[in-house]
Amino acid sequence: MPGPILIFDSGVGGLSVVPPLRHWLPDAALVYACDNAMLPYGTRPDGWLVERILAVCDAAVAASGCCVLVVACNTASTLALDALRAHLTVPVVGTVPAIKPAAALSVSRHVGLLATSATVARPYTDRLIEAFARDCRVTRVAADPLVREAERLLAGDEPDQAIIRTVMEPLWREPDLDTVVLGCTHFPLFGERLAAAFPRPVHLVDSSEAIARRTVQVVNGPAPRAGRDQSLATAPDARLSRALVTFDFDEPRLLIVG
Ligand code: DGL
Repeated sequence: MPGPILIFDSGVGGLSVVPPLRHWLPDAALVYACDNAMLPYGTRPDGWLVERILAVCDAAVAASGCCVLVVACNTASTLALDALRAHLTVPVVGTVPAIKPAAALSVSRHVGLLATSATVARPYTDRLIEAFARDCRVTRVAADPLVREAERLLAGDEPDQAIIRTVMEPLWREPDLDTVVLGCTHFPLFGERLAAAFPRPVHLVDSSEAIARRTVQVVNGPAPRAGRDQSLATAPDARLSRALVTFDFDEPRLLIVG
């Protein structure tokens, strides 16, 4: 019997991949797993993070019986994709900053990258820029406070506009920058608010649609959806439950990480 599609993130960010996944695979069962006990990932040391991601994904793959793992987290993917693929027996789809489509879109050849401090500094990100945006200037902005604001929004609170403006300021101060990569899955959850913080129109580009299409290619007859989808979390949290239920998931079961 084939399993569901497992989506993994540190927090609610991976929910930005859920609408395109349900669009392309409307009959597939999904399981959402998040490591909310250790959120945020973006400011943690690499060595610790690799061990943690392997342990959480191991536990989530076993608990869900999934047929594919979608790592809906740039911070995890730019660090641990190879380790996950070597460690797990199910196929793994990763999420990395959408540098390539952004470079294709930019007319001014000046692109912004908004991501966690871990992602903006990763060698993986350097390689993406070198491969796909060599002729572009790329302004990287570490935007960790936006992770918390996205979490607040999905829990039903208004995000703090002053925090959004302050974090985005280094980008809108660049007069010729015309395209911004949302290189953290939390950020498309409030893309309109990020766009509104810009004094001029810019293209916002994220990876969610591409991840969903890649999952369609990799997955082979996933388990059929039967009612609400399931979810797993590493710590009990009523605010997280509210966000998951809004996205048509059941209240999370506790995921025990060995
Ligand atoms: N959603 C995650 C990403 O795409 C990161 C959030 C965090 O810092 O935990 O990078």
